[in-house]
Amino acid sequence: DKGGYPHFMLKEINEQGAVLRNSMAKRLAEGTVDLSAELPWTKKDVASWKRLHIVACGTSYYAALVAERFLETITDFDIRVDVASEYRYRNIPLGPDTLAVFVSQSGETADTLAAERIAREKGARCLAVTNVIGSTIAREVHDVLQLKAGPEIGVAATKTFMGQMAVLYLLAIHLAKMQGKLTPEQEKKYCDELTALPYKLESVLLRQESLQETAMLYNEARDFLFLGRGISYPVALEGALKLKEISYVHAEAYAAGEMKHGPIALLDPRVPVVVISPKDGLHEKTFSNILEAKARKSPVIAIATEGDDSLDGTADHIFFVPETLDQFTPFLTVAPLQLFSYFFARFLGCHIDQPRNLAKSVTVE
Ligand code: M6R
Repeated sequence: DKGGYPHFMLKEINEQGAVLRNSMAKRLAEGTVDLSAELPWTKKDVASWKRLHIVACGTSYYAALVAERFLETITDFDIRVDVASEYRYRNIPLGPDTLAVFVSQSGETADTLAAERIAREKGARCLAVTNVIGSTIAREVHDVLQLKAGPEIGVAATKTFMGQMAVLYLLAIHLAKMQGKLTPEQEKKYCDELTALPYKLESVLLRQESLQETAMLYNEARDFLFLGRGISYPVALEGALKLKEISYVHAEAYAAGEMKHGPIALLDPRVPVVVISPKDGLHEKTFSNILEAKARKSPVIAIATEGDDSLDGTADHIFFVPETLDQFTPFLTVAPLQLFSYFFARFLGCHIDQPRNLAKSVTVE
């Protein structure tokens, strides 16, 4: 049931406020995170893990890359994030000193399952973050955190990306606490902001019409560049993946600082540049990339923070998202990109919920 929406993808994008609330229910309350009902880990267990690996494919991998940037600021682990199809064929040091987290919406992705089997064989503690509680991965690992996003029908993952980020952030806070790395004040600050996010996200979703207008303006473009720095880089990757998956238009994401090392050669008035540029510590650096794109006459579509007028007169289109902590911006900046892709593909008449050549779960290598 599409609930009155023309496509499951649009319905699922619009459910994301509820997905955030569900993923935090019974895990976050009164300024603290408690995952002990699901994760039976003692402080001694956590202290025995020096390494933290996060392994996934596609959109789940991008959620892991976002979480990595939060984890590396609040925990003490030696962190590695990899795509499962690479991880499984490399000789990566891991063992009983490793907590290995496998992120898979379906829990059936062949490469992720194979990577998990290798890690488990080598003695790592294996945790699955999945939406499907009876899935193969959930049955095989030591520990499971469920997304609670509800079934996702659209082949393009949207609400489960949101749920994955939320669950991985809760996990980060849980681990940081067990490592003695988080003061109650810091924990409360993170929890208060996590609790506020669903409302902020819903305020973004309410303004989706303007994204439809912008998407239609660029319906003739066949190449897009997505740029972001720091925690916005994986958001750029996810934005470009969404656009190519459902519209079959070429979209490429780069870490903004890499632009001048090659992709800048692509820029001209036919190549729009989507810049994820929330007001964070790297904002000024990303702004310089916007100027570079404008100097090559590329149209710039920016995702920025409300109240930031620094892009006025520079970016061609600005979509504003509410203010949040620097490390939490992906929860708000990804939704406009999902909507932009959706409206762009819809205008082109694409099969949004069932894009060509793609399956919801990739059960073969
Ligand atoms: O079920 P999984 O999370 O393991 O799936 C991983 C990827 O196949 C998946 O995210 C894919 O990239 C989606 N089509 C993204 O929209």
